[in-house]
Amino acid sequence: MVQLTVNGESREFSGDEEMPLLWYLREDAGLKGVKFGCGIAQCGACTVHIDGQAIRSCVTPVAAVDGASITTIEGLSDGETLHPVQQAWIEEDVAQCGYCQAGQIMAVAAMLEETPNPSDDDIDRNLTNICRCGTYYRLRKAVHRAASLKRGG
Ligand code: FES
Ligand code: FES
Repeated sequence: MVQLTVNGESREFSGDEEMPLLWYLREDAGLKGVKFGCGIAQCGACTVHIDGQAIRSCVTPVAAVDGASITTIEGLSDGETLHPVQQAWIEEDVAQCGYCQAGQIMAVAAMLEETPNPSDDDIDRNLTNICRCGTYYRLRKAVHRAASLKRGG
């Protein structure tokens, strides 16, 4: 039996503990914001937070998150108040097809906790999520805007 918290809600799982967390979140918890891209930890479409750290849920078995707190894009805002990264994404109009974007936002939100005022180099080094639509230019601008919003600017 695996016990975990998902977006603040306590849950139990008694199925196959080797199942990727990605499937658990999409199929059992019904959270479809997290996406399947490559399935081999390369693209980042499946990024969620485990205890505040960005991880790729396609290669993380449910067994590995026993006792952990998971946050998905659905749980990132504070009620009706958007997270600064979500707000910046809207203001910079980052998304194109949108498929990669929940993963991008979760990766950026975790990065800004560690690096509140990132340089372009920090962004390029830390953000390895792939966007097939090539939104990298707007994405980088939105990271700077989110950092500023987070600092109250
Ligand atoms: S689906 Fe997990 S990294 Fe691509
Ligand atoms: S917005 Fe289309 S893959 Fe990133």
